[in-house]
Amino acid sequence: MADPIVVAEGLHKSFGDTQALRGLDLSVPRGTVCGVLGPNGAGKTTAVRILATLSDPDAGHARIAGYDVVRDAGQVRASIGLAGQYAAVDEKLTGRGNLRMFGRLYHLPRSQAHRRADELLERFGLMDAADRPVGGYSGGMRRRLDLITCLILRPEVLFLDEPTTGLDPRSRGEIWDSIRELVADGTTVLLTTQYLDEADQLADDIAVIDHGKVIATGAPDELKATIGDRLDVVLEDPAALATAAAVLNTLAGTEPTTTDADRLSVALPATGLRLAGIVRELDRAGVAAADVSLRRPTLDEVFLRLTDRKESVR
Ligand SMILES: Nc1ncnc2c1ncn2[C@@H]1O[C@H](COP(=O)(O)OP(=O)(O)OP(=O)(O)O)[C@@H](O)[C@H]1O
Ligand SMILES: [Mg+2]
Repeated sequence: MADPIVVAEGLHKSFGDTQALRGLDLSVPRGTVCGVLGPNGAGKTTAVRILATLSDPDAGHARIAGYDVVRDAGQVRASIGLAGQYAAVDEKLTGRGNLRMFGRLYHLPRSQAHRRADELLERFGLMDAADRPVGGYSGGMRRRLDLITCLILRPEVLFLDEPTTGLDPRSRGEIWDSIRELVADGTTVLLTTQYLDEADQLADDIAVIDHGKVIATGAPDELKATIGDRLDVVLEDPAALATAAAVLNTLAGTEPTTTDADRLSVALPATGLRLAGIVRELDRAGVAAADVSLRRPTLDEVFLRLTDRKESVR
């Protein structure tokens, strides 16, 4: 295993009576993307703020590239970039103007700030819009510009807190491409997201957090494997729904969800149930199935199971 560049051990953080983090552990190998996934209020932003030195933990430790986020905050800041949820760019300046301004804020000599601005605009496909005021940029372009302002100093680790929230699918795709470019350059990325498909697309490893703790970690496929396969059944006659649900409940040991008037879906236990046996049991109960299929669960289903929210019945 590559040496982890981001390490958090037993982080605790409270705000008054609210325990935002209750012993959060995290380890991100260099050059990978870690997706931090969790429902609203799980503690994602709190964790990112501590890792990015914007807030101190009440207990526990975190290190970035070997530097302690509290004791060596200055060195940590020199190794990281952080893009929060809201773009921090200046609307009145052009894209190029913004990047040059940030370069100067970071104390780069003027010529270097200019060169770096052009490199980044070229690399991340914003050169055509470089001389337009950012006020006229689309949401996706603005977010992309915000992301590249974090790259001026070539951070080793980039924190992205919900980088694509509120963007349309095309803009999200553009941000994903930019993130992939970064990773190809060797940047380590820790991103929080509410979008499971985003984590599925980008992350090498996912940490699912809930109530301030990591409740599961693994590659997307490993997480999907932990909850076993899903069984989907389409009935010939919706009238048989209740009977079919009872049969599946007995076989799987959990309540199936009704996904449509004539469709049921249930998580199977990891111990393999055979498709043939399931069909036979349905048959025996007088249920005619138009289609029975086994599939890997979606990350949404994994997430709902792990965070113990009831799967919605639509
Ligand atoms: N500055 C603060 N003052 C008081 N409570 C806070 C503060 N920051 C966070 N909290 C609380 O801590 C908990 C975790 O919040 P946090 O913002 O880390 O969650 P999150 O996982 O980022 O959620 P979201 O998905 O909504 O962004 C929440 O209950 C939140 O209300
Ligand atoms: Mg948040």
